[in-house]
Formats: sequence, structure tokens, C-alpha cells
Amino acid sequence: MSKQEEFFNHITEGNTNKGECITLGSAMLDGKTVKNAFVNVPLKTMNRHGLIAGATGTGKTKTLQVLAENLSEKGVPVLLMDIKGDLSGLAQPSPGHIKIDERHEAIGIPFDPKAFPVEILTLSTQNGVRLRATISEFGPVLISRILDVTETQAGIISVIFKYCDDNKLPLLDLKDFKKILQYATSEGKKEFEDAYGRISTASTGAILRKIVEIEQQGGDIFFGEKSFDPQDLLRIDENGRGYINIIRLTDIQDKPKLFSTFMLSLLAEIYSTFPERGDSGRPELIMFIDEAHLIFNEASKALLNQIESIVKLIRSKGVGLYFVTQNPTDVPDAVLSQLGLKVQHALRAFTAKDRKAIKLTAQNYPDTEYYDTASVLTSLGTGEALVSALNEKGRPTPLAATMMRAPMSRMDILTDSELEDLLSDSKLVKKYNEEVDRESAYELLNKKIEQAEAEELKEKAKKEKEALEKAKSKSKGSSTRKSTRMNPIVKVLTSATFIRSVFGILTKVMKK
Ligand SMILES: Nc1ncnc2c1ncn2[C@@H]1O[C@H](COP(=O)(O)OP(=O)(O)OP(=O)(O)O)[C@@H](O)[C@H]1O
Ligand SMILES: [Mg+2]
Repeated sequence: MSKQEEFFNHITEGNTNKGECITLGSAMLDGKTVKNAFVNVPLKTMNRHGLIAGATGTGKTKTLQVLAENLSEKGVPVLLMDIKGDLSGLAQPSPGHIKIDERHEAIGIPFDPKAFPVEILTLSTQNGVRLRATISEFGPVLISRILDVTETQAGIISVIFKYCDDNKLPLLDLKDFKKILQYATSEGKKEFEDAYGRISTASTGAILRKIVEIEQQGGDIFFGEKSFDPQDLLRIDENGRGYINIIRLTDIQDKPKLFSTFMLSLLAEIYSTFPERGDSGRPELIMFIDEAHLIFNEASKALLNQIESIVKLIRSKGVGLYFVTQNPTDVPDAVLSQLGLKVQHALRAFTAKDRKAIKLTAQNYPDTEYYDTASVLTSLGTGEALVSALNEKGRPTPLAATMMRAPMSRMDILTDSELEDLLSDSKLVKKYNEEVDRESAYELLNKKIEQAEAEELKEKAKKEKEALEKAKSKSKGSSTRKSTRMNPIVKVLTSATFIRSVFGILTKVMKK
């Protein structure tokens, strides 16, 4: 048997699975594509997470696009964090290209251009389905983690949530949260002290400063109603294809804190609301995070720990996370060690540091008699990658330098009018984009303060009148003075959202 035949058998055996698979392309030997030597990723292990890495311009985003389309086609919904704004083309078919035809001829898969069902979402005021969450839903624990506060300050945040719960004050946006923090050390000082002990102005001041930081990164737009229901990410179209939900994050690069806040809240909400899946044989939702270093670089230690544990836990809900980044070292080791699929595009060896990184990266791949991994890493062409997946038994598939298939959809963005058409057809835009500003803590506390002031004035006027009457008729008995107790807390109707989330949906997750 020739070396090539041997290699073909080695790859084919290692990539044969009983269940459904996604074919990424064909394996390459000595720089040449071996036709029909398919490199497959079983759907069954796609909830085991993954990494797509490689130097700039080597094909990471196109690999993400290929994975997303093929998942959609198999009925698996997808969520993409589109940081560079280059993924909307998924909603239009590829115009084709002679290079693409050549690529597919070499791989052995016919090229079949098509469009996919796409939903565009946004964290800001850009066009798209508005993604929002309320402070109540975050709960005290996650809010504290995100604000990166001290333990004492976290204690105060818990008390604030408890107070709002006891007094039915909905905490919806940052305005509500700031108001109640101010109230606790001013007008409401006595009330808080009686019920929960003293709260220091220094502590609430420190918390307020942290809130301003989030606010400056667009948190005031993110926090509020109507909050997004993650179930809406799981839609399947009329042809049985999973929706590809694209979150446009082009304006997020300078707002890493908002990005990680959002990511973590979404993961936590998914974790707490999706049912356990066990080994169902196929994933429920696959998430891709392009430019993933953005969430890791700015995250605090507490936040990192949180991300690590959620990555570990969310698998059982059938959710796979795929990080896309230039350098594998951008992803913390504790997360890296949990990743099943690795697609490593070319690395560049410009400096001594680069060469060291390449050596380290090569060590993370299974041994193979067919490749010198380190030198393959630097010689891969555009749209080629070293792939190592997990087979259905959870064991690594043979390492394969792979000629990746091309995306079936457009490798470029939508035009403005195409985007407009897409959004005007969207059911979710209709559901989430109306502005809601219902009465919440901010308005209710203002009312309460006004009421207390009015009460005080009334009481004062009453006392003055009494004193006057007393002076007038000295001989008569004393007046029947009523107690001047503060008005009881304003009772308000509260929404289901608030009740559901009083102590934060996440307390459960956080304890793990
Ligand atoms: N699988 C593929 N099939 C066909 N062409 C590809 C493929 N992968 C990459 N290319 C070509 O390479 C170009 C760059 O790819 P891509 O945008 O995916 O790189 P990247 O690694 O994401 O770069 P960056 O780090 O700058 O984001 C594409 O515009 C496309 O022309
Ligand atoms: Mg890219």
C-alpha cells in the first residue's frame, strides 16, 4: 500500500461515525489535498466546545461561517458574535468563484451555493433585534461579579435587592439601581438602618462609581426592558434549518466590560433556563465568539472563574461554545483544556516569541507519523487548518491538515437594502424593539420621597395649628395627638419578571 493510500485509510477510519457529522473538508498530505479523505465533526460531540485559531487573514472567520451553515442545515440553531461585522452574508447565497470550484473539486464535495435563515441582533441602538436584560434578572451575585466589588459592597448589593424585594420595587435599569443606592444613605437611611443595619456612604459611593463605568460603555442601553428570552435563539425555519442568530458587535471593541457582562448574563440565563440534555446525540445551540480575546483580556479574576465554571456546566444543556481568536494563548488554560474541537489555521513565525508559541501550540496536538506539526503550522495556506475533533466515543480524531470547504453563503456582508429587508421581515424585531419604560424603583422611590416630604409638611402645619389653638385656650385639655409615623412603603403591583428573578436567577449557578 502506498503512503497516500495508507493515509487515506487512516483518515477515513478515524472520521467514520454512526451519527450525523459535519464535513469540514479533506485531509492534506505533503501539502496536497487527498480527495474524499473527509474530515468530519460528529454532531454528538459538538457540545464539547472548540477553538478556531490562526494568524490574521488565514481563514478563521470563514471556518466559523462554514460550521454555522452546516449546523443550520442539520437543524441546529447557531449564535454568532460578529465583532468585525463580516458575517451577515450568511443570509445570501455565494456568487461562486473559480477558486472555490477548484477547492471543492480537490476536496471531493460539490459546491452548492445557498442562503440561510438569519436573524440580526444588537446590544446597542444599531439596527437589529434589541438584546436587553433587567437588573433584577441579573440578581445580586452576578451584578457584584460584573461590577467587581469588594465583599462588603457585595453584601450591600444583596441588601438592596432584598429591600427592593420586600418593598416590591422593580429594579429594571441602571437608573433604578443608582436611585436605590442613593436612597439607602439619604432619605431611606433610617428605614434601612432599622431593617438591615447601617450602610456606609463610602460603600454606596464606591458601587455607584463602578456603575458609572458600565454606564459609560453603553450599559444604560443594555439594562432594561423588554428582556430577551434565550428560547428565541432556538428557532427552526419552515425547512427544518436552524436559525443563525448574528449579534452585531462592531461597536463593542472599546466596550469590553459591556461585552463580557452581556456574554456572562446570556450564558447564565441559558444555563438556568435550558433543560438538562444528557447525551442527546445532537446539540441544542452552538455559540461562536469571534475575537474571543476581548472577553478574556478585560475580565476580572472573579469573572474569569465564573466563565470557566459556566463553560464546564453548560455542556450538559447541549450548548457548545466556540472561541475564535488569533492565538490559542488568548484563551485561559482552564477553558482551553475543556475544548473538544481544535481548528488551527496558520501561525506566523516572525519573532522568537512567535516560534516559541508555535512549539507550544504543536505540543497540544496529538502525535502523528504523517506530519511534523510545528512545521505544518507555519506552512498552511489560506483556508487550510490543522483539525483535531472528538469522535463519537469522545476520543480525538487523527490530526489532519485540512483543505477547508468554502462557505455556501456569501463571503461578504449584506448591502444596506438587503439588511433592511431582512429586518423588516423579522418577527423578533417586532417583539423586542418597542420601548418600554414602566414604573420601576426610580419612579417609585421618587414618589415615595415626595410623599414623605408632603407628609412632613402636613405634619408641620398641623403642629403649628395645634400650638396656636393651645395658646388660645390654655384652660382646655391637651390635644389628641396622633403618631407621626412615616408612611408605610408604597405598595405597587409587581410584574412576573420581577418575582421570577428577585434573588437573581443565578444564585444556583454561582454556588457551584
Ligand atoms: N474556507 C475557505 N474557502 C475559501 N476561501 C477562504 C476560506 N477561508 C479563507 N478564505 C479566504 O481568505 C480570506 C480571509 O479569511 P478570513 O476572513 O476568514 O480570515 P481571518 O482569519 O478571520 O482573518 P482576521 O484575523 O483578519 O479576522 C477570505 O476573505 C477568503 O477569501
Ligand atoms: Mg476574522
